[in-house]
Amino acid sequence: KESKLQLVSRHIRAFPDFPKKGILFRDICPILKDPAALTAVIDLFEEHVRKNHQHVDLIVGLDARGFLFGPLLAQRLGTGFILIRKKGKLPGPTVSVAYDLEYGKAEAEIQEDSVTPGQKVVLIDDLLATGGTLFAACELMKRLQAEVLGCLVVIELKELSGGDKLKPHSVFSLVQY
Ligand code: PRP
Ligand code: HPA
Repeated sequence: KESKLQLVSRHIRAFPDFPKKGILFRDICPILKDPAALTAVIDLFEEHVRKNHQHVDLIVGLDARGFLFGPLLAQRLGTGFILIRKKGKLPGPTVSVAYDLEYGKAEAEIQEDSVTPGQKVVLIDDLLATGGTLFAACELMKRLQAEVLGCLVVIELKELSGGDKLKPHSVFSLVQY
């Protein structure tokens, strides 16, 4: 029988030279189109979090594709979900941090009151490339004095060493290239 991991990897496509020449873009859209594959992703994340993290207060999703998986996982775990967005999208008092991407630059932002000091959080995104995005997210958590228990991604691009950049935080990935 096909494993959950096989089911997930079968629903990831690769597009050469997107969004720039030289980038092999891994596309998770087929996972969302297939209910069994999407369920498998959330099952695997849930199993990992239950086994490795004692108590989780909040799941933190990264703009934009972390929003596709984060709320589903949060509901499974019975926790809340909060958003880190690209700058300029969130109302009220915010904190922000600039970062570099595999193919550009961006600034991540969070509402100041989204997490209280001492809360334990797990970060989630679709993909880890250089680690710039998750590093910026960890920086925002530090600024708000939240404790990062770990990071979850569907896909990890190993050759870009994003995992090293995020140390000492742990990264759990389902599929590696
Ligand atoms: C992609 C991806 C991750 C990030 C990974 O998002 O969804 O968030 O890049 O790259 P890194 O590890 O080098 O930081 P992108 O910034 O393209 O934005 P989008 O989700 O709005 O498409
Ligand atoms: N796919 C999706 N998002 C990305 C990628 C990719 O290959 N590289 C950096 N962000």
